[in-house]
Amino acid sequence: MRTDTSPAIYRKDYTPPSYWVRTVEMGFDLDPSATRVATRMTLARNPASAEQAIVLHGEELELVQIRLNGKNLAKRDYKLVDGLLRIPTKAEEITLEIETLIRPDKNTSLMGLYVSNGNFFTQCEAEGFRKITYFPDRPDVMAQYTVMLRGDKKKYPVLLSNGNLIEQGDLGDGRHYALWEDPFKKPSYLFALVAGQLVCQEQTEKLKSGREALLQVWVEEGNLDKTQHAMDSLVNSIHWDEERYGLELDLDRFMIVAVGDFNMGAMENKGLNIFNTKFVLANPRIATDTDYANIEAVVGHEYFHNWTGNRVTCRDWFQLSLKEGLTVFRDQEFSADMIGTDSGRAVKRIDDVRVLRQAQFPEDAGPMAHPVRPDSFVEISNFYTVTIYEKGAEVVRMYQTLLGRDGFCKGMDLYFERHDGRAVECDDFRAAMMDANGRDLTQFERWYSQAGTPRVKVTTSYDADKQTYDITLAQSCPPTPGQAKKQPFHIPVAIGLLDGKGRDMPLSLKGHSDQPTTLVLELTATQQTFHFTNVTEQPVPSLLRNFSAPVVLDYDYSDADLAFLMAHDSDAFNRWEAGQRLATRRLLALTEAAQQADSPLSVDVALSASLRASLNDVALDPAFRETVLTLPAETVIAEQMEVIDPQAIHTARRFLRLSLAKDLRQDFSRVYAANQTDGPYSPDAASSGKRALKNLALSYLAELDDADAHTLAQAQYDSANNMTDRMAALAALANSQAPGRAAALAKFYSDFEQEPLVIDKWFSLQAMARTTDVAAVQTLMKHPAFSIKNPNRARSLIFSFCNGNPSRFHAADGSGYAFWAEQVIALDAINPQVAARLARSLDRWRKYAPALQEKMRAALQQVADTAKLSKDTREVVGKSLAAN
Ligand code: TRP
Ligand code: ZN
Repeated sequence: MRTDTSPAIYRKDYTPPSYWVRTVEMGFDLDPSATRVATRMTLARNPASAEQAIVLHGEELELVQIRLNGKNLAKRDYKLVDGLLRIPTKAEEITLEIETLIRPDKNTSLMGLYVSNGNFFTQCEAEGFRKITYFPDRPDVMAQYTVMLRGDKKKYPVLLSNGNLIEQGDLGDGRHYALWEDPFKKPSYLFALVAGQLVCQEQTEKLKSGREALLQVWVEEGNLDKTQHAMDSLVNSIHWDEERYGLELDLDRFMIVAVGDFNMGAMENKGLNIFNTKFVLANPRIATDTDYANIEAVVGHEYFHNWTGNRVTCRDWFQLSLKEGLTVFRDQEFSADMIGTDSGRAVKRIDDVRVLRQAQFPEDAGPMAHPVRPDSFVEISNFYTVTIYEKGAEVVRMYQTLLGRDGFCKGMDLYFERHDGRAVECDDFRAAMMDANGRDLTQFERWYSQAGTPRVKVTTSYDADKQTYDITLAQSCPPTPGQAKKQPFHIPVAIGLLDGKGRDMPLSLKGHSDQPTTLVLELTATQQTFHFTNVTEQPVPSLLRNFSAPVVLDYDYSDADLAFLMAHDSDAFNRWEAGQRLATRRLLALTEAAQQADSPLSVDVALSASLRASLNDVALDPAFRETVLTLPAETVIAEQMEVIDPQAIHTARRFLRLSLAKDLRQDFSRVYAANQTDGPYSPDAASSGKRALKNLALSYLAELDDADAHTLAQAQYDSANNMTDRMAALAALANSQAPGRAAALAKFYSDFEQEPLVIDKWFSLQAMARTTDVAAVQTLMKHPAFSIKNPNRARSLIFSFCNGNPSRFHAADGSGYAFWAEQVIALDAINPQVAARLARSLDRWRKYAPALQEKMRAALQQVADTAKLSKDTREVVGKSLAAN
């Protein structure tokens, strides 16, 4: 077994840079096989550093020349080891000129400068700039950039970089140039350039101050019919940030560019956001309602980074959640405000909490668990996680829950007042929230330093004579790697009490004069009891309203209590939550029964009655009813089990869905008919909610797998005027024995052959279909449209199977794991970031039955034993295999 691993980097080892960079001038001669990069920077010694050298990072660069204050340096004048270039000096002011040669066409990692479909793009976060030139590539070094791009006029008619276009012109020799200047200083990770054959949709928009800004969405020719929604989302984002936080766009020009080869969702480069096509391109023919919502969220997210991330950035990468947690929180609030209604906001909240439970809770309970502000990492790219993003957003949300919306805004104002133009730490954000509100949030720091999902156990007691009600909250947090013992967290627990008619009771808590119907209890000790007075009858408690903290809440509700909350709670989130608790209970019981060969699975009338009531309650928005009728995901059930049994979970969930389909057949048919959206397609919340509910009904009816269901799905497929309905129908057919199944899949392919994002859906749908085993995936990999080099395509097939088809992936013979190992190794040679993400699929191997565990361990070991492995993938498999 190989033991050589790259060294970990520790937060406690932070030292300030030896030199600050004031200005950077760059010249690019663009050529796919040999791009020449000439950089001139001015540096100033940092008196806070003891180091007597300029320290620059560089990777995969051909160094042509270095000049210091105009003098060529010889090899003996500097040291170049392991990607670090050290130039000994004590000078106060320095001009450094560096020339490098790079090969964008050979860059399959998609970090640094690379070529996608003949065009040039960059991705510099987190440490990609060092693949372009030698530079102090760390976020606390902020400089002002001027960029000259030169290239062939025909091949690269469009030349873009950050900031303002200063000048452009002809070079005479078939080439042309463009000179860009970014007026704001920025860290190197926000640098960007784009060059190639692109076209744009543009408009000017008036900002709050009256200034006009030019907005552009750049895409490949042929995609201009898919940019309107991204543009609308950008305009909405700009005005939302003005309204909600008083933050105005600080540039005269703001560009979004879409690229088909991209490692993540999108990137907030100053003034030149670069996006995965998946989060830009949409029209009714190719994009689903979910795609429309995602585009709005990601466009918002990147735009909001302009203040939270770019104007105020991170001191070091351990502070990543400072910008990501805050910006996810902001995009969540933006999306909620765009829906506008209370019920719509609840649905958005439910969606966000689902992501947290399906992905972040498992991460927090596994070998890669880390605090929102980690203490160490081997490869920073592995820490763009659901913990940093989604749990980070929950941590930010808790400030708002504790301080109120106005208090939170005051904290934001103070944060910008103190730190604009600087690179700071998570602690600085917390300090701004504290100081702006005169609140002590010292203990709140533990949300940043301690990993793991806290559990809050609730007990209650009612005294009818004294009319008092006591709520006792007790917290604990399981150990995580490197953190055996945890200190108590500061947890806001929002609660309400329901009377026998389901109405909110006014809450009288000792020490509070007003009588609200929702109160935020602050749990700071290991255990605390809250005494309520004037409680005239035994209440049913509504706990953790709107999911006020990222915790698991245990309370011994009776089934009757849950059904009651489902029907009456004024907190929409908790109405949904009660249904999920009830369904989880049933699913766990069914899973246990499925594990015993001789115990038959039985139907539950009570659950089905409660679900029927919600399904038919026309006072509730369709979108909300859809969330209630959606059973907890297999991964959520898995998290509740001591030993995960993917087959039994799958059997149980399918059984429950089929029983509900039989029980509620009439209701589903009625709901299906009542929620048609006639007329032209619109992605607005009301229409998409109707489609969601209608297509949920279709998916239940499809469980019956009878001629009626087949006919219904086929008819919807044939008449669909939008991708949401078409995909829903295709999914119903693909998971059935419908005679038209193969023909529908083939027709879908030929109809959308020219649309890569739709072909991704085609692969993904099949990867997750019930009948798809490893052999079927391998056959799909031989399809001419498959390519492992394109991250979206690799994700659509390989990731969808490994992460989205648990009962097939965890086949008893271990074939899924062998396939996984093969693909991780193949991907690692092409794109380490994407490979390391796939490597995460087995990190919870210790939670499975011994027979599966052994096969998973062997697959992990096979990857770990691979001689040439990136540090990205090695960190993930190393941590997965490490003794816990
Ligand atoms: N900062 C980006 C965001 O908005 C994340 C990101 C985009 C990224 N591309 C990346 C991170 C490549 C690492 C590598 O969330
Ligand atoms: Zn981000």
